[in-house]
Amino acid sequence: MVLFFFYGLILVLGELMYLSKREERILEGELGEAYRLAMEVVVKVGDVLGAERLINISSAHISGVSYKNIGDEGLEFLRELRDNGGRFTVKTTVNPSGIDIINWKKMNVDKNFALKQLEIIKIFRDMGALTLLSCTPYYYIPVKTGDHLAWAESNAVLYANSVIGAFTNREGGPMAVFEGIIGKAPYIGLHLEKNRIPTVKIDLKELKKEIDIRGEYALLGYYIGYIVKMGVPLILNYPLNLKKPAYLRLFLAAIGASSSIGLVIIEKYSPDYYKIKDMNLDGIDKFTPNIKELKEISMKIQRDMDRVDALVFGCPHLSLEDLRKFAAFFKYNKPRKRVILFTARRLNKISRKYINILKKSGIEIYFDTCMVVANLKNMGIENVIVDSAKAAYYLTSQGYKVHVLNTDEAMRYATKE
Ligand code: F3S
Repeated sequence: MVLFFFYGLILVLGELMYLSKREERILEGELGEAYRLAMEVVVKVGDVLGAERLINISSAHISGVSYKNIGDEGLEFLRELRDNGGRFTVKTTVNPSGIDIINWKKMNVDKNFALKQLEIIKIFRDMGALTLLSCTPYYYIPVKTGDHLAWAESNAVLYANSVIGAFTNREGGPMAVFEGIIGKAPYIGLHLEKNRIPTVKIDLKELKKEIDIRGEYALLGYYIGYIVKMGVPLILNYPLNLKKPAYLRLFLAAIGASSSIGLVIIEKYSPDYYKIKDMNLDGIDKFTPNIKELKEISMKIQRDMDRVDALVFGCPHLSLEDLRKFAAFFKYNKPRKRVILFTARRLNKISRKYINILKKSGIEIYFDTCMVVANLKNMGIENVIVDSAKAAYYLTSQGYKVHVLNTDEAMRYATKE
């Protein structure tokens, strides 16, 4: 029923794309209903968007995994797809869910919610997904320059395109499911070199010093996305610390939150830069951000608060290096406020040393979920300090009172009375 409903939403508007004989046979149902439906949806979306053909992908990454976001309809859709034989034919990973799958009681999660969430995760596993439950798949599966992907988490898309030089559009969650099943995506958008040419230059010369001093890489990303909205920005004269992995992730995630951008080209850094560096780009717009505007725009995702319930880190999910940094700091600086970290369960074993130090310091660590798709209110949190502009954007829109500090400031703040 749900599949039928989803299928019914797809309109055929464009020219029909070329299909190989095998693709045609899948479309006729040779591999069964789930593959037929997946092929049909992907082809129809491709037709609407003007794709000439499909492209093989090496991996898919699915967002919209939390029961909080997809509800009973999403669960039923996935159940039907699995029961109709749907299995992923390429490496397929999944985003954070609404719970820590082991410590969900500690998060004060309702039992019904937890059971539904666990069923969603099981379905993905039954379908052959690697249930990373993390939004940083680029740390856990091999992705290389030139790979074509179908990823549906904006921070991961921006990282894959801008840092690795892979090719992926910003897919929707259900679309990535279908693409993972057939192992193909419409050959459109950022899969094509011609759409990876800068459309606007962002010259950071006016605020690079100040950003390096203030460490506001997340707010800078939010500001750039907010101003540019779409296309491919070329980032020039940037503060050098922007290339540090932790800052870069916060910067790219924030761009993803405030825009539909899927690729930014960072001068002398992004693999795509070396393809366009000798092009004449004189004709495109140039924008020189300034600190006054950055402050104004960053206030849109922050709210006054009279108390701080917690400092929350891990949007995007913390890396091994981040955990090392937090452990090194909090080992000698006792937190005097509630501190919560979100990361991938994959790091539980390999970062055990750091996690033990952090837990000993009273810091809460959750895996498999994140501050946005979980329910912080259930955890007694309404006023929150984050270091992520993406988290601030979504938490503010969910009614939380949020303030953004840079990571180091926030860590220091946590140790104050
Ligand atoms: Fe990841 Fe959740 Fe942020 S999915 S990017 S931690 S909103």
